[in-house]
Amino acid sequence: MVDVLLGLQWGDEGKGKIVDYFAPHYDVIARFQGGPNAGHTLYVNGKKVVLHQIPSGVFHQGTVNLIGNGIVLDPVTLVKECATVDSFGVNVKDNLFISRRAHLILPTHRALDKASEVSKGNDKIGSTLKGISPAYMDKTGRNGLRVGDILDKSFTTSYIKLRLKHQRLLDNFNFQDDISVWEEEFFEGLEFLKQLNIVDGEYFINEKISAGKRVLAEGAQGSMLDIDFGTFPFVTSSNTTTAGVCSGLGVAPQKIRDVIGVTKAYCTRVGGGPFPTELDNETGEELRKIGNEFGATTGRPRRCGWIDLVALQFACMINGVTRIVMTKADVLDAFKELQVCTGYQVNGKESREIPFQMERVKPLPVYQNFSGWNTDTTKMASYEGLPENMKTYVNFINNYLGVNVHFISNGPGRDQIIRVG
Ligand code: GDP
Ligand code: IMO
Ligand code: MG
Repeated sequence: MVDVLLGLQWGDEGKGKIVDYFAPHYDVIARFQGGPNAGHTLYVNGKKVVLHQIPSGVFHQGTVNLIGNGIVLDPVTLVKECATVDSFGVNVKDNLFISRRAHLILPTHRALDKASEVSKGNDKIGSTLKGISPAYMDKTGRNGLRVGDILDKSFTTSYIKLRLKHQRLLDNFNFQDDISVWEEEFFEGLEFLKQLNIVDGEYFINEKISAGKRVLAEGAQGSMLDIDFGTFPFVTSSNTTTAGVCSGLGVAPQKIRDVIGVTKAYCTRVGGGPFPTELDNETGEELRKIGNEFGATTGRPRRCGWIDLVALQFACMINGVTRIVMTKADVLDAFKELQVCTGYQVNGKESREIPFQMERVKPLPVYQNFSGWNTDTTKMASYEGLPENMKTYVNFINNYLGVNVHFISNGPGRDQIIRVG
């Protein structure tokens, strides 16, 4: 069977840490969408590591890691990531497998991402500039090049053809940057990629499932960044939700068992787009400071605000969430009063639904107040010992969502996690 772990908000919920925590219970960890726009932070032997494309199970012996067909892969980033993983004594050549069908991010995809963002001016998406959207456009436009293609003799010809197409687009944008260094790195990256385990991901994973192996599908980004159900157009270019697991790995829906949704105890967003509970004030700054809310991929400050139960309930519905993991609960330790968004005020009426075109509707959050716990929880290890006010906060969320929080993460460290009940 396949369990899924994904983000319920706008990304950066702490998925990397939680996958690393659960990894010993699984035989395979597989990424099914996204690419190097992701930045998943883990602590290995007390040292911080940020993974972008390699699944977060890579540090566990006995766990194999698959980059699925739904991924857009940048070989340049992969070389660097593999070097980082190697430096921990893990041989990625043994435990990393890459689907032949995954699409490649070309240097010109990165250039097009940048050119497109610049052309949008103030309306820019705030993309990570990793080439994600142009690469997925070439996939759905049936132009893209795939990992398996690099083994063909005709690859260079196909590359030159696509590059020419991109150049015409870049000329339209009047894009002038010299990307020759990016191209050099790209071809070096391809040589490296050829030495890794390139497989038919769909057979690979189904054989594992048939053999009774346990698989965890690791989501990137978050449900509110989903191309179909997120705050379009301020989204990423893939299905970040459970549905993406089937198409992004080649597994049938009835193989999916648990869907573990990860949410922060509050909420953040990086990049542009609507964020109803955003706190553009001192409280927001305090959340950013205490939570160290700066992007793992781009270093940009993250926008911070209170937890949004309207958005979370929507995410639980779309994904079929069976269990919740609440991260960064310790960040709220210092706050005297907490607010929880229980509804949206839209045109004078209260609603519990995500509106179409959130950007135009501009829903006002309706809040319920809670007393903080004002206790250092970072060293606590059992649910019983947690402050009563934290339990009240969590129980309220459980009741609202109709799905329970099963784990509370109380710090970035591997052992800072508490099972509920
Ligand atoms: P991901 O993209 O969902 O994997 O999340 P990121 O790695 O981008 O961002 C999460 C950040 O929060 C990282 O810096 C983690 O080390 C950190 N983190 C994860 N869980 C906790 C937690 O429970 N408490 C605190 N204080 N930090 C956490
Ligand atoms: P992880 O996996 C947070 C955001 C970008 C931008 C939008 C589109 O670490 O949670 P893209 O580069 O995908 O075209 O950018 O999506 N974004 C993320 N925000 N966490 C991520 O990944 C993100 N990946 C993309 O900031 O707003
Ligand atoms: Mg991240």
